[in-house]
Amino acid sequence: MSQSVDLDNLFTRELEKNDGSVLCINQSVVGDVGCVVWDAAIALTLYLETPDFQETPGSNKLRGKNVLELGAGTGIVGIQAACLGANSIITDLKDFVPLMALNIRVNQALITGSAIARELRWGTDVTDYQPPDYILIADCVYYEEAVGPLVQTITDLCDDHTVVICSYEERTTGNKPELQKKFFELVEKVFHVEEIPLERHDPVYRSEDIHIMKFIMK
Ligand SMILES: C[S@@+](CC[C@H](N)C(=O)[O-])C[C@H]1O[C@@H](n2cnc3c(N)ncnc32)[C@H](O)[C@@H]1O
Repeated sequence: MSQSVDLDNLFTRELEKNDGSVLCINQSVVGDVGCVVWDAAIALTLYLETPDFQETPGSNKLRGKNVLELGAGTGIVGIQAACLGANSIITDLKDFVPLMALNIRVNQALITGSAIARELRWGTDVTDYQPPDYILIADCVYYEEAVGPLVQTITDLCDDHTVVICSYEERTTGNKPELQKKFFELVEKVFHVEEIPLERHDPVYRSEDIHIMKFIMK
């Protein structure tokens, strides 16, 4: 499915955080869809800085929490979580580990928690992982053959304290509407699903076609 990510052919996306610091995310010109930052990832990255994640003024709920990102691509969401104080394990297929690791290095000065990049193919054994406090997923309902394995991995990783936050862009072409329907049918068998209303997304980076969902195990 994915081809190697070419680290010699990069371009950068900059994203300003609430505190004025700037995340610099390298994207690759050559490779599969995970080589670039998707809009649903930006929406989720910025949602992590909204009042929904504020414990007390200046303190983010992710501080000190264990976070695992699935299908991270460039790693932007997990890196943001690490900048907000989380201990992030940022995962994708093996080919993406060097790009995620590069982006962790580039943003190291902003990271107040920790971040590591790892291979995690959906549907494979995850018994090595402790159930994280949060699982973050941006725009991963994309591949017909991977919908079932993705839901399996989310389910295998969670226990009843884990909060899953999943953003996606609602697509109306090809088989995407069908895939999204199938994904939520499978998720709803195991999780309570709640949509985060648009007014609670980032005040600037929000869009009617980008959804942020929260899953908690039934
Ligand atoms: C549309 S991209 C989204 C990337 C990133 N989350 C974002 O929104 O910018 C989907 C990601 O899922 C990853 N992916 C696809 N199939 C996978 C699988 N079976 N196991 C793990 N990751 C997978 C891809 O490599 C890709 O990085």
